[in-house]
Parts: sequence; C-alpha cells; structure tokens
Amino acid sequence: MIPIAKPIISDEEVEEVVKVLRSGFIAQGPKVAEFEKKFAKYVGVKHAVASSSGTTALHLALLAAGIGTGDEVITTPFTFAATGNSILYVGAKPVFVDIDYDTYNIDSSKIEKAVNDKTKAIMPVHLYGQPADMDPINQTAHDHGLKVIEDAAQAHGATYNGKKTGSLGDLGCFSFYPTKNMTTSEGGIITTDNEDMAEKTRVLRSHGESKRYNHVVLGYNFRMTDIAATIGIVQLKKLEKFNEKRIENAKYLTKHIDEINGIKAPYVSDNVKHVFHQYTVRIKKSNRNKLMEFLNNRGIGTGIHYPKPIYKQKVYQEFGFNSSCPEAETASSEVLSLPVHPSLEKVDLEKIVSTLKEASNIIGLS
Ligand SMILES: Cc1ncc(COP(=O)(O)O)c(C=O)c1O
Repeated sequence: MIPIAKPIISDEEVEEVVKVLRSGFIAQGPKVAEFEKKFAKYVGVKHAVASSSGTTALHLALLAAGIGTGDEVITTPFTFAATGNSILYVGAKPVFVDIDYDTYNIDSSKIEKAVNDKTKAIMPVHLYGQPADMDPINQTAHDHGLKVIEDAAQAHGATYNGKKTGSLGDLGCFSFYPTKNMTTSEGGIITTDNEDMAEKTRVLRSHGESKRYNHVVLGYNFRMTDIAATIGIVQLKKLEKFNEKRIENAKYLTKHIDEINGIKAPYVSDNVKHVFHQYTVRIKKSNRNKLMEFLNNRGIGTGIHYPKPIYKQKVYQEFGFNSSCPEAETASSEVLSLPVHPSLEKVDLEKIVSTLKEASNIIGLS
C-alpha cells in the first residue's frame, strides 16, 4: 500500500527523544524554548509560542486577539473542522465565505460583503500548503480594523510574495500532527511579531499564570512537552528538504496528470510557494468515488479533503448554521488527494501515474 501520508522519523529524532527522557525535563522546559526560538527565526517573526496542538494554537491565538462572545470571525468552510471549532470555543461565530474555484482557498473578493459591526477577525486557511491571497485579505482587515489569524496548519515553509506563512497576518498558527509537513507527534505553535499578544498566549497556555501559582486570567493547560519539542527541532532542520521533495513529487504528478482527460491537477498561483501538504486533484462528481475505489484496490491510498463544508457537519447544523457556499459544496464532491509525501520513491510515483491512466481507460474519467 502507498499510504496517503507517512511521517519520516529517523534515528536522530529517536536519539534526541531518549536524551530528553533521560534529562528529567519531560514536560515543558528548555527544549520547548529552543524550538520556539528556532521556529520564530525560520518563519521570520519575533515570537513563537508552542502549544499542545494546532487546535489549541488557534484557540490561544483567538483569545490573544481579544475575540470572544458575540464576535464574528470570517473564515472558509472548506477546511478541517478545527478551524471553525476554535472560533466556537471562544464563544464567537464563524462566518463562512465561499472559496476560489482554482486554489480552494477563501475567495478574498467575497470577504468585504461579510463584514459587519460584529466582525473582529479574518481567519484564512492556507489549504493543502498553498497560501491564501493575503494582500486583499490584509487590505480588507486594515480597512475595517480586523485582526488576521492565519491557519497555517498545512503550510509550514510556504511563501506568499516571498514571505513565509505565519508572518503574513497578526498571528499564525501551525499544527505538527504526524501527517503534516513536519511533526512533533501532537503539537502546535503560534507565531507573531506582537509582543503583547505573544505574552497573552504564553500566559493562557499555562493556566493563566503570570508567574508560578499566580493566576491572573482563566487559562488552560495547552502546553507542549519537551519530548515533542525535541522532535520538532530535528524535523525543522529537515523541513526545507521535505518540502522540496513534496514539490518535486507534485511536479512529476502534474506533468503526467495534465495528459489525462478528466483529471484536473492542482493550480498553483504565481506569487506563492505551494508546499503540497496535500496533492489534490479534481474529478467529476460521478467519477470521484469510482476513481478512489480503483486506486485503493490497487494499493494507492487516497483522501477526501474535505467531504463536506464545515457548516454541513452535523454539529454545525445543530448549532443552526445554514450558510451557502456553492464552490465549497461542489469542491467537496469533486476533490481527491493523492500521495505526495517525501517518502515516495520513483516507483511509487510511476505506479500512481500508470494506475491513473489505467483508471482513465477503464472508468473513463472525462
Ligand atoms: C487546516 C487545519 N487547521 C487546524 C488543524 C488542527 O491541528 P491539530 O490536529 O494539530 O489540532 C489542522 C490539522 O489537523 C488543519 O489541517
């Protein structure tokens, strides 16, 4: 089976974890501080604050941005549920704006219309590793005094006009879940140039402590462990290489997929570096599940990112969300992610391409 995702953990990560286990510092300690410093430098921001997951990073970022009950946050419905959930956790309401057909990211031209007196922030997601169209998003935010919180969970090392994700808004949030471009097992991080917001996230992630046993606000235990951070330090050194391999794999797939009728390869905007967290193609709705089954039966793992816009999930329906985002709804019935991760060998890529060609002949995809 060629899996849809596979973390690369080498002896170095294993040895570093063993050292941490032997050090006695196994919860948040010096390794977390070192990882934060290195990650901030990599992204090109002044501060990075590590957390227990991408979800808790989003939660902390929203709190630090002052978002709370009665506020609205504009976001995309075509993302992992954590994006919307984090907004609900702080008592705010996600307002879903439709996506762009080509990039699957929030359609920046539709944001302005969704702004009202309750709007406090925009949370774009850099979906599949391709940055959202940040210039118009930041302009709209600037015009209306809104905060911009990037959900960069899928876009470590991606750039927009040469600047890294996580440095493009007021706050950036990353996930280090094992399927991501780099991992810490579970883990997340918040990036920002704003000292005040960085400090707020630091306090909130550890029970609102300004110093030991001095609780100044109601906080959480959203801390990262040194065990996770030490994996992150090693993985960060390899991130550029991992990303280059993802990009090279994507190039190979696109070159061949462009020759197959009925499969649309991913579109890459001119001004971005797309780091291919996912390589997601588009096929007619009536063929998507047939193609998925065909590939799976021949040992090729696939994924559907995502099978429905968030507002169609049961929990959101029960909350009374009744948004209508036609592009997101169509995309959710047409997208299919193929393996693109850096552990793929040439033979794996050849097998993926030849199986797609076979599927095109047998199923007829156009
Ligand atoms: C777009 C997006 N946002 C948020 C998250 C949440 O990250 P985590 O799973 O680390 O909590 C993920 C990852 O799963 C994601 O893909």
